[in-house]
Amino acid sequence: MTRPARFRLDAAGHLGAVDHEDSRADLSWNPLRGWQANGMEAAAQALLDLYLPISSATAERPITIAHLGQSLDGFIATPSGDSSFVTGPENILHLHRLRALCDAVVVGAGTVRADNPRLTTRLVAGRNPVRVILDPACRLSPVLSVFNDRQAETLRVCAMGNAAAYAPPAAGECLLEVTTDETGLDLSELMRALRARGYQRVLVEGGGVTVSSFLQAGLIDRLHIAVAPVLIGDGRPALRLPPQGRLQDCLRLRHRIYQSGNDILFDCDLRSPVDASVANPLRPGSFQRVL
Ligand SMILES: NC(=O)c1ccc[n+]([C@@H]2O[C@H](COP(=O)([O-])OP(=O)(O)OC[C@H]3O[C@@H](n4cnc5c(N)ncnc54)[C@H](OP(=O)(O)O)[C@@H]3O)[C@@H](O)[C@H]2O)c1
Repeated sequence: MTRPARFRLDAAGHLGAVDHEDSRADLSWNPLRGWQANGMEAAAQALLDLYLPISSATAERPITIAHLGQSLDGFIATPSGDSSFVTGPENILHLHRLRALCDAVVVGAGTVRADNPRLTTRLVAGRNPVRVILDPACRLSPVLSVFNDRQAETLRVCAMGNAAAYAPPAAGECLLEVTTDETGLDLSELMRALRARGYQRVLVEGGGVTVSSFLQAGLIDRLHIAVAPVLIGDGRPALRLPPQGRLQDCLRLRHRIYQSGNDILFDCDLRSPVDASVANPLRPGSFQRVL
């Protein structure tokens, strides 16, 4: 009898073949029954549910995933832009896994200006994604880390016609011009350009303005919102979408919920229609204690 192949999900979320027993997050493939979790089954299954849709993306079925870590009252940073850190270390690790799984990471100019981030994969094994910076007017200083540290390729995305005003690019960056529409940069055109470069897994990492614009353009397949038990009061908002008059017209999302340290992670699947059970959240007996 042929033994089923054995696989393990590593810290970066990659599925790899293993030749030894590992009871922590060990998965096996059975041709009849599909993926099976061994050892700590619930933990392994959770990792599989969370990361497999990303790691299994292909050129035929690419994926764009967005992530935000927000307060209970819906903010991602204080008014001054301080966001270190809204969520706990477990969610930061999750974010690095997402970077390791993705070919490219997109952030807005506001985030680069406020944080001077590196956007590299440091907490887990894995490649650094290509950094895609939305800077329509080419206003970001070329001395910022993403343009200089040479840890990964950086693509500065500006509005058509603005690249000429910005010359020459910093040593570690490429410029990409995109047409604009009434909402700003044409994000559909940007996504086509990224796919053409072979970036099939794209992470939109923030901030709120950027994730909201991708969501509004219908370009997000998977939305990860980590909610931390902190009240910021006022500051940089997480998602902002055009208002709806009726609650029934608002977007209800098919989702799974994960506990991640003290945070609750919502993994929303925007490709699938809403789960009917979500429409009536107050069914008797529907509460479950997760902590
Ligand atoms: N907690 C978290 O998960 C998290 C994640 C990331 C960032 N942050 C924090 O969030 C804050 C920044 O977020 P934010 O929402 O204020 O700004 P942001 O989304 O980082 O950047 C917004 C800017 O990016 C450009 N941009 C984004 N989408 C565009 C589009 N469709 N068309 C044209 N330009 C576009 C515009 O640049 P121009 O202004 O040049 O036009 C826009 O003003 C920082 O304080 C950062 O620390 C928190």
